[in-house]
Amino acid sequence: MEQLVTGALKQTLDKKTLAESIRVRKATPEDVNEIYRIAATVGQKNKDANLGFLIDDYKSNPLKYKEMFLSRIYELEHFYVAYASHKPVAFLMAYSKADWLRYNPNWLDDIYWHPGFDKKYTKKFVLVDKTAVLSGLTGLGIGSKLYERLIADITAKGIKNMFAETIISPVPNFASLQFRRKQRYQLAGVRYEEYNGEILTDLIYHKRV
Ligand SMILES: CC(C)(COP(=O)(O)OP(=O)(O)OC[C@H]1O[C@@H](n2cnc3c(N)ncnc32)[C@H](O)[C@@H]1OP(=O)(O)O)[C@@H](O)C(=O)NCCC(=O)NCCS
Repeated sequence: MEQLVTGALKQTLDKKTLAESIRVRKATPEDVNEIYRIAATVGQKNKDANLGFLIDDYKSNPLKYKEMFLSRIYELEHFYVAYASHKPVAFLMAYSKADWLRYNPNWLDDIYWHPGFDKKYTKKFVLVDKTAVLSGLTGLGIGSKLYERLIADITAKGIKNMFAETIISPVPNFASLQFRRKQRYQLAGVRYEEYNGEILTDLIYHKRV
């Protein structure tokens, strides 16, 4: 029993030390395999509402998803990795308004806006599309570090509005809902999107920075 407790304590301490050593930098093409690997740990066929998930099933088509990540690394200004000992353990991929609307031209029109939301905040924004921390390393502040870097970079460019979406149906992402609260996002609206023949319900969150 004592050995078990010591083992668990050591694991916690190892994780804490690892979390303290985390740094954030922009993603580079060399990171693509690691980014894919991280995505595949939280983006699987079966979705865990409590642990959180990415909507795609990355193992279903590794090549397609690696190509997608690679093209976004080249294209997006706000694609970051969090790393420890040179190895990425988490990533955050965000779009500028122009890039996001190029992929989702009807996005602004598809949203049922919250009556309290002021649409002037949609003039200039970034949208955080995917945040993922290697399964087993969540809750250590790594997601927050990625956000700190993104916020520092966008405020330096005069961008004060961020959006992000969280799925609540068919499976709710409870980890993401909690994380939105922690990040002090406000509910801005809701939208329905078709994905693989299914209708997803997404909450749209907004944050002023
Ligand atoms: C959501 C996610 C990006 C947060 O990153 P993180 O490194 O765990 O975040 P931080 O350690 O900075 O903050 C932790 C907070 O996230 C939320 N959170 C993370 N995992 C959670 C879980 N399993 N259950 C409930 N809340 C959770 C809580 O608000 C938590 O706050 P607390 O530690 O005070 O309880 C990460 O958990 C993740 O990758 N989940 C799987 C993929 C996913 O759901 N992505 C959606 C992006 S929002």
